[in-house]
Amino acid sequence: MLSCKVGSAGEVFAPAKLNLYLNVLGPRPDGFHDLETLMVPVRVYDTLRWTDATSTATDDRLTVRIRNRLAEDTSRELGHVSDNLVFRAAELLAQSAGITPRGTFELTKRIPIQAGMGGGSSDAAAALVLANKVWGVGYSPEQLGQLAAELGSDVPFFLQSSPAICRGRGERIETAAGLPRLHFVVVKPPAGLSTATVFSRLKLRQSAAETSAQPLEQLVRSLRRGAVAQAGYWMRNTLETAASELSPWIARLRQVLSDCGAWAHLMTGSGSACFGVMRSALQARRTAQILASRNLGTVWATSSC
Ligand code: C5P
Repeated sequence: MLSCKVGSAGEVFAPAKLNLYLNVLGPRPDGFHDLETLMVPVRVYDTLRWTDATSTATDDRLTVRIRNRLAEDTSRELGHVSDNLVFRAAELLAQSAGITPRGTFELTKRIPIQAGMGGGSSDAAAALVLANKVWGVGYSPEQLGQLAAELGSDVPFFLQSSPAICRGRGERIETAAGLPRLHFVVVKPPAGLSTATVFSRLKLRQSAAETSAQPLEQLVRSLRRGAVAQAGYWMRNTLETAASELSPWIARLRQVLSDCGAWAHLMTGSGSACFGVMRSALQARRTAQILASRNLGTVWATSSC
């Protein structure tokens, strides 16, 4: 069941994600790493719209426009439109279905890049869902899932966009039902981190993978019981050591979040954003207000979807 729904105005909301648990199990022959992770979508969104209009300036049949609503100036990092995952997702779907892609996708970016919040992957999933609908392709969730896995390790997660345990490269999804709503403060420091670089640092050092699935099971069990403070004990991210060697922000943000009384504090994905699990929406909002004035980067109070 796709929860990434197309609204009546032909607009899709593409949420960010946070990793409450990420354990890298080891390298794979294909250059990726096997991992197990618990991801939750959160209420920080990019939006994607499609209109039938084609560009008059060029004879391109498919146009992607990016409107930057990011707090920081990232125009350089956003790169050329043809590298954008929305463009690649739309092209891939059209190619697979044997149709000519058409129209204009307008992507409004609010999720920062190089943050570990899954913005590009979420945009790609949104593009697959939207193009599947507006071009009348009619692919099933399973067919879209196969294309999603080709686009990136996290893209299949965003097709279903509910809390899930993801394994393999990240593309094997098991929905984690029954979790309570969680409240977060998220901080994205001014400097981002490249996922490939963080993983490559991990390869250089012996990956201290935990072979037991016990912490993940304990985490999910505690969350289902509503014991969120206790669940914090089981939250971890084995990419943090490698990321901390590349960016002093990780240790600094975790200290700041600890000082704010977060139940748990963690880096998300391959960084560089970090988050604190807060007692309530009110505590999250108050903490975000305080941190927003401290030149730490971009700060949100948000909650799980
Ligand atoms: O799949 P995605 O494009 O998000 O991955 C970006 C990079 O992160 C990959 O090229 C790879 O270096 C690394 N990666 C990995 N193992 C994973 C996911 C990502 O090594 N499971």
